Amino acid sequence: MKLTFITGNQHKFREAERILKEYNVIIGRKDINCEEIRSESCEEVALTCLRLLRRKVNKPFFVEDSGLFIKALDGFPGTLSSWVFKKIGNEGILKLLREEQIRDAYFLSAIAVWDGRKEKVLIGRVDGYISRELRGKGFGYDPIFIPAGSEKTFGEDEKIKSLCSHRRNSLKKLAEWIGR
Ligand code: IMP
Repeated sequence: MKLTFITGNQHKFREAERILKEYNVIIGRKDINCEEIRSESCEEVALTCLRLLRRKVNKPFFVEDSGLFIKALDGFPGTLSSWVFKKIGNEGILKLLREEQIRDAYFLSAIAVWDGRKEKVLIGRVDGYISRELRGKGFGYDPIFIPAGSEKTFGEDEKIKSLCSHRRNSLKKLAEWIGR
């Protein structure tokens, strides 16, 4: 089955293309804007977007909503991650956490998929910590997120990110669901 990933984010697309290839799922990309609803749930954001796009798209496709949830900030920036990143960036997040000892955080990825017959939401999560300074490259919050069990940020260690990221986990579930 040819599956289309509807996203305006090239980083997400490249990561999904590479990971899904491992499961013999080949994807194409389309960039159709989808107005994000205001909700604290990535799952709800992704599913609402899927349902809106189903009016325009007549082939199997999926969308993804992701976010960084920081414990000491009560889950902020969460579903606002993209907007917050544009406004205050990683430096802004580090400033908010300057005095904070508890640096636990997690990334969530919610994929909503339509296979032509059914819809489904698949969730991936990775737990970790926010670093004390910017380290490495990558996109978005990669330079400040350290996955549990590692000492390096996603920005410093692409390999680790590829093995354990929230998106890896949701995409694996997507491949399994497609192949069911
Ligand atoms: P959205 O899913 O388009 O709403 O965007 C989520 C935002 O969360 C992105 O724009 C990034 O700022 C951040 N984000 C999501 N996944 C990652 C990741 O794998 N690394 C770094 N930042 C991420």
